[in-house]
Amino acid sequence: MSSNGKILVVDDEEIMRDVLSTLLAAENYSVDFAHNGAQALEKARESDYSVVLLDLMMPDMDGLQVLEQFRKMESNPVTVILTAFASIEKAVKATKLGAFDFITKPFKNDEILLAVKNAAEHRRLLDENLRLKKSLRERYNFKNIIGKSAAMQQVFDLIAQVAPRRSTILVQGDSGTGKELVAKAIHASSGRADAPFVAINCGNIPSDLLESEIFGHAKGAYTGATSSKKGLFEVADGGTLFLDEVATISLETQAKLLRVIQEREFRRLGGLENIKVDVRIIAATNRDLQAAVEQGTFRDDLYYRLNVIVIKLPPLQERSEDVPLLADHFIKRYCEENEKELCVLEPSALKVLMDYHWPGNVRELENVIERAVVLAPGNVITADLFPKNLSHFLPDSQVRIPVDGLPLKERVTNYERSLILAALDHTDWNQKRAAELLSVNATTLSEKLKRLKIKPR
Ligand SMILES: Nc1ncnc2c1ncn2[C@@H]1O[C@H](COP(=O)(O)OP(=O)(O)OP(=O)(O)O)[C@@H](O)[C@H]1O
Ligand SMILES: [Mg+2]
Repeated sequence: MSSNGKILVVDDEEIMRDVLSTLLAAENYSVDFAHNGAQALEKARESDYSVVLLDLMMPDMDGLQVLEQFRKMESNPVTVILTAFASIEKAVKATKLGAFDFITKPFKNDEILLAVKNAAEHRRLLDENLRLKKSLRERYNFKNIIGKSAAMQQVFDLIAQVAPRRSTILVQGDSGTGKELVAKAIHASSGRADAPFVAINCGNIPSDLLESEIFGHAKGAYTGATSSKKGLFEVADGGTLFLDEVATISLETQAKLLRVIQEREFRRLGGLENIKVDVRIIAATNRDLQAAVEQGTFRDDLYYRLNVIVIKLPPLQERSEDVPLLADHFIKRYCEENEKELCVLEPSALKVLMDYHWPGNVRELENVIERAVVLAPGNVITADLFPKNLSHFLPDSQVRIPVDGLPLKERVTNYERSLILAALDHTDWNQKRAAELLSVNATTLSEKLKRLKIKPR
């Protein structure tokens, strides 16, 4: 049977230590002793006890002094006081100093066992609470990725699940949703964390140059190849290769990539020998790869290889509950970076952030916050520090189609909402004038406000 907990008995009298030891051991507690205050502090620093039974009257350092020292310790032991003198004054003082319970000698066995049991339960609850708080904190913040929305929580779970494996992963999401951050988190949580994480943006590079970057080349592979060169697959050996914007890779290069994924070996351009590598590939795209397959610009076999494990990052607009957390995170980061005292976000400024549709997603939010932190004259971030388009936004003339589609009703409602808010802002929330600007009559506007849950000011 496992022990009910570890108890430290602090008493200068040997007979007391013996009695308590027998009593507690019979109830399946493991017992440790200290003969005086100094020894008690030393032991409490060294190990974790469920409960400390502490005699109040001891030579040298008395129980109250020990208790005071306990309060300064991180482990802050749960303490039950024992004293031969039923002094209510000392009892009060001890509880004020945080003692859990108080028992007078001579005591009844049941009395002491009940007090120890309650104290041990209290310790267990404190630990549980601490653990929960810690895990909650961690869950809202997984390797620097912030998010409490259900969608992001799923992303955290998926990262934790797939990280230890070797499987190829596809990260999908609009620009600025955090694809590279996720790729880095996977790498950092994998057994490859100490090996390189190598990123290449395939979108910026012409096809032949891209191949030479990825696979390297042999000496004389083409005019100008005066020496041989390692490709990124070799650089990333043992680690992770992040292929950003895979949808832009040419069909020919796609075929070569497929081969490395399947065979785990390749040749340098113009090279003759097969080079074996152990590289995990994480690919990312902001396009709909399936559509690309249908259009014939993306190989279906490569698509199926990449599509085994897909991590989808939703647009920020669809997880607005993450906006306050992200805003705080970036405020903290940029205040530190700019050596400013921590700024606070005014509630009305937060509202502007919550209402905005964030076409540039988290990156746009990050930029907005950085700018506001730098421009803020004091330590308060107000809405007027944000770019004007945030409060009176119009959708892009060029509408983006997110990977997951575009729910028309929701988007139109959001648009309607922002036009109405803009008109209200413009007229200092004069509904009659706002209705005129919007060319609707006042009752229509007031109905819309109700339906859209916009509270008149
Ligand atoms: N959930 C998040 N928590 C904290 N920071 C985030 C989060 N998502 C994105 N960021 C930050 O936003 C910025 C953009 O993220 P990242 O570069 O990973 O996006 P991306 O999807 O790769 O964008 P693009 O498609 O434009 O390359 C980075 O500075 C990143 O640290
Ligand atoms: Mg990126």
